Amino acid sequence: MVDVEIRELMQPFVLSDYQVQEVYTRFCSETAKGLRRSTHEQASTKCFPTYVQDLPTGDEMGKYLALDLGGTNFRVLLVTLKGHHDATVESQIYPVPKDLMTGPGVELFDHIADCLAKFVAKHDMHNAYLPLGFTFSFPCVQVGLKEAMLTRWTKGFSCAGVEGHDVGLMLHDAIQRRGDAEIAVVALLNDTTGTLMSCAHRNPECRVGVIVGTGCNACYVEQVENVELLDPNFKGSRKQVIVNVEWGAFGENGQLDFVRTDYDREVDRKSINRSEQLFEKMTSGMYLGELVRLVLLRALERNKIFKQCTKRAAFVAVLQNNVDIFETKHLSEIEDDSFPEFPSTRRIVKQLFGLEKASVEDCQKLKYICECVARRAATLVAIGISGLINKINDRKVVVGMDGSVYRFHPKFDSYIREMMQKLVKPDKEFDIMLSEDGSGRGAALVAAVASKMK
Ligand code: GLC
Repeated sequence: MVDVEIRELMQPFVLSDYQVQEVYTRFCSETAKGLRRSTHEQASTKCFPTYVQDLPTGDEMGKYLALDLGGTNFRVLLVTLKGHHDATVESQIYPVPKDLMTGPGVELFDHIADCLAKFVAKHDMHNAYLPLGFTFSFPCVQVGLKEAMLTRWTKGFSCAGVEGHDVGLMLHDAIQRRGDAEIAVVALLNDTTGTLMSCAHRNPECRVGVIVGTGCNACYVEQVENVELLDPNFKGSRKQVIVNVEWGAFGENGQLDFVRTDYDREVDRKSINRSEQLFEKMTSGMYLGELVRLVLLRALERNKIFKQCTKRAAFVAVLQNNVDIFETKHLSEIEDDSFPEFPSTRRIVKQLFGLEKASVEDCQKLKYICECVARRAATLVAIGISGLINKINDRKVVVGMDGSVYRFHPKFDSYIREMMQKLVKPDKEFDIMLSEDGSGRGAALVAAVASKMK
């Protein structure tokens, strides 16, 4: 049992039933606004049509290239779809230097084309004609499968000259500038779409794709008549289309102010995209560790934790001066730690803060802080997922999930399920499945769909 002082400190992170219901209602009304033409402009959740209208059958065949930009790493992949719901993926990670994330956009795309060329050379594919699916995990207005205009950067990117431009075209131009490979960019997709597609490839009941990683977002299958922004030419032949909710932006109209804490406001103030992506800043891997750092600092300043520690001043200074020193992976490790030894917690506080002898009570307190931050994130994600499931007509809905937080946090999945049990309508059944390489396999599947449409 954690002491009452720390419980009090964490109280703002514990959402009451009333708050959960209220966020749920606000989220549902915001997504409805995003879909409608007359209210789309003011909605924070943009609900962009993706133009992906065919879910995979499992019979798709062929070799495809895929690019994955917007998560922890940049990757180039070669995907072989083999029919029978089967696929193999070969991939290579290439670092994106920090200055490229904030420098001129053309340089970022030249770097991408350069990595692509190296990959093609390594796999001896110079002479093969290969269609490419580009998983570009940022908010885009799409007017077709391969035309995607970036509306804004998120997650620490801020390259000039890309917002408002067609990123498929920018990639195409960068490939042309090099002139050493025959590659056609046939589809642009969000990572949530990739996740949904790769899960639907295995399980046809999948209707929702969710990422809780560096960023946080979801997409789902909607009836075309409800998607007012979809070009009417795409409404005739298909009944449905995948909608990219871009729920990371939820809260920008003040809808989350009643649950946001001082810590959330501080994370936002220090970010490069101030007042934007407020839901994302409460739920995703880029921010959860930083939230814990800020809470820990407050707890120390108020003498609620590590009371016996001799080097308090040094500890406080390290915490104060090192934004992002506490990472989301630490939060996962601490929540997974065993009582009463707490080996990981002790190693982490020693490594990061030079603390030699953390007491059992201190470790318990730190674990509780991490738990509250992660549980609130999972609760918010569960609210979003439940809102989407309850909107979908099918009685059973499978949710495809991916992202580093979901994958590596030991309890995130159970926190989500616990909340979904309360929020999903009782006449519905749901399940969650882990996506297998959504950004690669998903991109290949969308590329396959695009080729079929031609
Ligand atoms: C950010 C992006 C969104 C992406 C998500 C997960 O929220 O805006 O497009 O899906 O991160 O990577």
